Amino acid sequence: KVLILDFGSQYTQLIARRVRELNIYSEIKPFNNPPKDVSAYKAVILSGSPHSVRTEDAPHPDLSEIKGKKPLLGICYGAQYLAHFNGGSVEKSNTREYGRANLSHVVSATTFLTNVNTNSQVWMSHADTIKKLPENTTLLASTHDVENAAFKFNGEETYGIQFHPEVYHSTDGKTVLENFLVKIAGLEQDWTPDAFVDTTVASLKEQIGDERVILGLSGGVDSSVAAMLLHKAIGSQLHCIFVNNGLLRKNEFSSVLEQYKGMGLNVKGVDASARFLDALAGESDPEKKRKAIGRVFIEVFDDESQLVENATWLAQGTIYPDVIESVSATGGPSATIKSHHNVGGLPDYMKLKIVEPLKMLFKDEVRRVGKSMGMDASILGRHPFPGPGLAIRILGDITAEKVSILQEVDAIFIDGLKKSGLYDKVWQAGAMLLPVNSVGVMGDERTYEKCVALRAVESTDGMTADWVNLPYEFLQKVSNDIINKVKGVNRVVYDISSKPPATIEWE
Ligand code: XMP
Repeated sequence: KVLILDFGSQYTQLIARRVRELNIYSEIKPFNNPPKDVSAYKAVILSGSPHSVRTEDAPHPDLSEIKGKKPLLGICYGAQYLAHFNGGSVEKSNTREYGRANLSHVVSATTFLTNVNTNSQVWMSHADTIKKLPENTTLLASTHDVENAAFKFNGEETYGIQFHPEVYHSTDGKTVLENFLVKIAGLEQDWTPDAFVDTTVASLKEQIGDERVILGLSGGVDSSVAAMLLHKAIGSQLHCIFVNNGLLRKNEFSSVLEQYKGMGLNVKGVDASARFLDALAGESDPEKKRKAIGRVFIEVFDDESQLVENATWLAQGTIYPDVIESVSATGGPSATIKSHHNVGGLPDYMKLKIVEPLKMLFKDEVRRVGKSMGMDASILGRHPFPGPGLAIRILGDITAEKVSILQEVDAIFIDGLKKSGLYDKVWQAGAMLLPVNSVGVMGDERTYEKCVALRAVESTDGMTADWVNLPYEFLQKVSNDIINKVKGVNRVVYDISSKPPATIEWE
């Protein structure tokens, strides 16, 4: 396995992800609490960092059991660290070096840069730069602005690179990591989703022992996969709660509940629709709606958890992008656009220990893990669906009647996508109920009824998205079906806005 020593870079998880893509197992450990015994690691990677080696409080772990003894790769801060503490010099760069650059080889035919094209694009993101390399090193590659872009310590397998091989913008980044881990360190590429399941199940068993765990299922991919992992690890000690907030898709509560039971999960369905609708009555403001739903959810979940005696753990299906995005909601530098990423949103008094088995994974990896546990494609392939559900797709205030209209519309749209083989080509789709009535004519009668907007987007992470070019014939059929079958709707429009500047949900 590989040890990734984390100096606090925002990219550390991406390093781990790239290593996993190479089917190699890695562990991330904080620099200030590194493993005492490193004998089990075949290679070590030092991450980037927001720190500067030039400051007093620069992270400075003892690498005496590592450097020179096993293959070591320093990335960005890691490279500066290796240079600075071994006799080189690191200075503030005159211009902040950020963005694309092209790598040119200084030494050809090194194992480290095998199959890395000359002029290969690499991604830079640093404020300090290595001015002088330590004595016993060889320069391997440079870019236009960064002379010491890649170097090696002579007589040992220690490398430093100023660029970030872990971001996709570094086109040969994965090759560099592969060269280092496979060709140089000789690691086996036998780490697969199956292996992830085995190790995670084993460590969950150890972590939880014979205690009880509560988990809130949402019907979505993440909570379902987290539940399956825990189920494999601790069986009936896992108590799942699936709350119907009355804002789910048509028939979703009963069908998903049955599906969960079929998977052997110990799950209790709680229909709290009325409580949610009461709390939402007369409320039109999107953020207040979200807050009300969040509050009632916690109340219901809390009541239900009390019924599970002696529970000491709360499991969550948090995945890595949730962790990144929640930084803004918890006081990070970026603006909160919508208050939806409420990681760790439960009240303190619940006093449960938190277990998050998917915290390190990205969505596509979660799906692969679910697949390797034999989970149904109908769960794993499900589109993302917001926690507040249809409440944020009904613009304005919410009534039971509006929910039921939108459920019918949504079901026709989603079933249509599935029947036409379009569902899996779309990242997320749904319908919005607009707070406008418009005039129509049905038979010989004038109508004055609701308008719905259909939305289907492509995306990789929900952060940016583009509308999907659905075939006109498809839209025509869905529109006809909706207007003919759903009472109260006489007009259908299709949303052709991208995110940004729009968002995926209308509220
Ligand atoms: P937006 O509308 O911000 O949506 O472009 C991005 C992704 O987040 C989902 N979303 C939410 N998920 N609670 C959630 O759990 C929310 O309040 C919420 N609002 C948006 C949205 O469905 C899309 O996948």
